[in-house]
Formats: sequence, C-alpha cells, structure tokens
Amino acid sequence: MLRLAIQKSGRLSEDSLKLIRECGISFITSSLKLKTESTNFPLEILYLRDDDIPGYVADGVADIGIVGENVLVEEGMQHLAVEQLGFSKCRLSLAVPKGDPYEDISDLQGKNIATSYPNLLQSYLDEKGVQAHIHTISGSVEIAPSIGLADAICDIVSSGSTLISNGLREVERVFKSQAVLIANGGLNAEKQEILNKLLFRIHAVQRAQK
Ligand code: PRP
Ligand code: ZN
Ligand code: MG
Repeated sequence: MLRLAIQKSGRLSEDSLKLIRECGISFITSSLKLKTESTNFPLEILYLRDDDIPGYVADGVADIGIVGENVLVEEGMQHLAVEQLGFSKCRLSLAVPKGDPYEDISDLQGKNIATSYPNLLQSYLDEKGVQAHIHTISGSVEIAPSIGLADAICDIVSSGSTLISNGLREVERVFKSQAVLIANGGLNAEKQEILNKLLFRIHAVQRAQK
C-alpha cells in the first residue's frame, strides 16, 4: 500500500483528485474524512494542509504527495520532486494598491511587503538588489495593504480575481508554479513498484490529453 498526500481544500485538491480518478483509481470521498483507501488500487489518500505535505513526505509519514512547486521550493524541498504534473498553474506575484504610482521594482526599496513565501520573495529581491522588510503571514495576505500592515504583497495569483477584489495590481512575477508529484527518497521495493504503476497511468492520462 502506497500513501499519497494531497491538499485537503484549495486550488490543488480538485485537480489532484481528478488526476487520480482519470488513472482509473476509485475511492470514496467524504468531506469529513481525512483518509481514504482506494477500492481497486493499493493506494491510501491522506488529505492534508498543502504546506505540511513536503515535510510529511520527507519524513515518510506519506510516501508520495501532490503539491505546488511554490510550496516545495519555498520549503527547500526540491529534491523530493519526481515530475511536474502540468495542472494548477499559477504564479507568485508582487502586487500593490491599484492607485499606487509603482513604476519598477526599485519602488519597493525600504517598503514593507506581506507574504506567505518569505524565501522565494527574499531570493527575488536579492537578485534585483532591492532591500525591503518582509512580513511573513500565513493567510489573508491580500488584505494587508488595506489594513495598513504592508505597502505591497507577494502572493499566489491564478485567475487574478482575489487581487482585483482587494483593489490590488499585479506588478512583478516572482515565480511560476504548477502541481508537482513528490516522493520519499527511501521507498521500499514494493512501494516503488506501486509508484511505477501509478506513474505509468499518469503518463497515459497526460498523453491522452495532448
Ligand atoms: C491563493 C492566494 C489567493 C488565491 C488567488 O491561495 O492566496 O487566495 O490563491 O487565486 P485567484 O487569482 O484565482 O483569485 P491558495 O489556493 O494557494 O491557498 P492557500 O493560500 O490557502 O494555501
Ligand atoms: Zn497553503
Ligand atoms: Mg490563499
């Protein structure tokens, strides 16, 4: 039995479950259960917070996982990546209040920026030679400017509607992301074989979509 960790609720959950179903793997879902077993494939699914998934896979609590590259790289866990899955594409972007006279990245010099991705943001600012104060918060980042907590934010943008509804304008793209399959490095032979079977099916699904 192979243990797969996926996001409990969020942008990745639906797409992750859809991929597993397209692989012909059946299971019963209930919004209240945090764990389910497939009825026709040796797979157990754990529903977790996305931010916790790389750590659980690294520790072997889960054998494999589906997570955004943004979370994986932020946590310095790139070595767990097996392959990019091509869905849940999004970007990590800097945004400012829409009335702001922002022209280029140097306008952020000395400013306060709120984000849940301090490491990705710091490397981007370093690369651009900009010094700013990074305020790490775990959620509701988009409201930070309107409550006076920050001058700018750096958060995930997909459709862009969250930015618009919070009166923000996207000004820089920091990181491009998509869903990625990750795996623990020390899987035993039995688990490795199940993973190979799963990958074989994932590749078939991907070929059919091309
Ligand atoms: C991101 C981000 C916004 C939303 C943006 O959250 O924090 O809430 O997506 O999407 P939009 O551009 O389509 O409006 P995410 O799904 O990564 O969830 P999390 O922050 O709770 O992990
Ligand atoms: Zn998250
Ligand atoms: Mg969010």
